[in-house]
Amino acid sequence: MSMELETARKRLLAARRVAVLTGAGISQPSGIPTFRDAAGLWKDFDIEEYATPGAYARNPQKVWEWYAWRYQKVMQAEPNRAHTLLTVLEQRVGEGFLLVTQNVDGLHSRAGSQRLVELHGNIARGRCERCGQRFPLPDPARFVPPPYCPTCKARGRPDVVWFGEMLPPGAFEQAERAFAAAEVALVIGTSAEVEPAASLGWLARSSGAYLIEINPNPTPLSSQADCSLRMGAVEGMEALMDGLR
Ligand code: APR
Repeated sequence: MSMELETARKRLLAARRVAVLTGAGISQPSGIPTFRDAAGLWKDFDIEEYATPGAYARNPQKVWEWYAWRYQKVMQAEPNRAHTLLTVLEQRVGEGFLLVTQNVDGLHSRAGSQRLVELHGNIARGRCERCGQRFPLPDPARFVPPPYCPTCKARGRPDVVWFGEMLPPGAFEQAERAFAAAEVALVIGTSAEVEPAASLGWLARSSGAYLIEINPNPTPLSSQADCSLRMGAVEGMEALMDGLR
C-alpha cells in the first residue's frame, strides 16, 4: 500500500467529523452517464436546451421527456459498492458525518445514507409550478410527463436545480458548515467545475481538513488534495475502507 493511501486511511479512521462530496462519477459504475466525460450527457445534449429555466419556459414538453427518460434509467439502476461503503462510513462516524451530493439519481438514499444533502434536487420528484409542493413522480413504467400537483392540480416541473437557479434553501449552508468543520473531506467523482459545490473541497482544505480525492482523472481540485486516488469510485472506496468497520 502506498504511504499516501496508508495516511489517508489512518486519518479517516481517526476522524470524528467527515464531510463527503460526490458527483456523477460515483454513479457511473451503476450505469448512469456522467455529464462532462467523453460519453457524458453534455456531449449529446445542449445545456441551454435541457437544463435552464429558459429551456423549460420555451419547451417544457421536450425538457420533461428528457427528464422522464433519465428518471427511467435511474430507476433501473442499482446503488454500487461505493454508495454502500459510504453508508458504512456514516455508521462508523455517526453524528459528525455529512454526505453532500450533486447527483439527482437518489442512489445514496437507496443505498441507505441518512445524513445526506441533495444539493441539486432529485429526479424522482416533481415540484408544483404554482404552490411549490414537492411530490414523487409516478412509477416510471406508467409515467407520462408532465406530472400534475396532487394538491392544486397545476403542472409540476422536475424537482432539480437547473443552471442559473438557486440551490434548495439551507442546503448549501449545511454543506458549508460540514466542510468547514471537517477533519477529513472526501471528494468523489466530480469534475469540480460547477459552483458552488466545487468550492466545498477548497473550503475544507483552507479550514485545515485533510483532503482526499477519488477520481480517475485530474480535476482543478487535485492540486489541493493531500491524497489523490487516481481510480474509480468503487476501487477508491474499497482501498480506503478495506478493513474499516
Ligand atoms: N469513479 C469516479 N469518478 C469517475 C468515474 C468513476 N467510475 N467515472 C468518471 N469519473 C469522474 C470523471 O473523471 C469526472 O471528473 O467523474 C467526474 C464527472 O464529472 P461531471 O460529469 O462534470 O459530473 P459532476 O461533477 O457531478 O457535475 C456537476 O453538473 O451538469 C451538472 O447538475 C449537474 O450535478 C451535476 C453538476
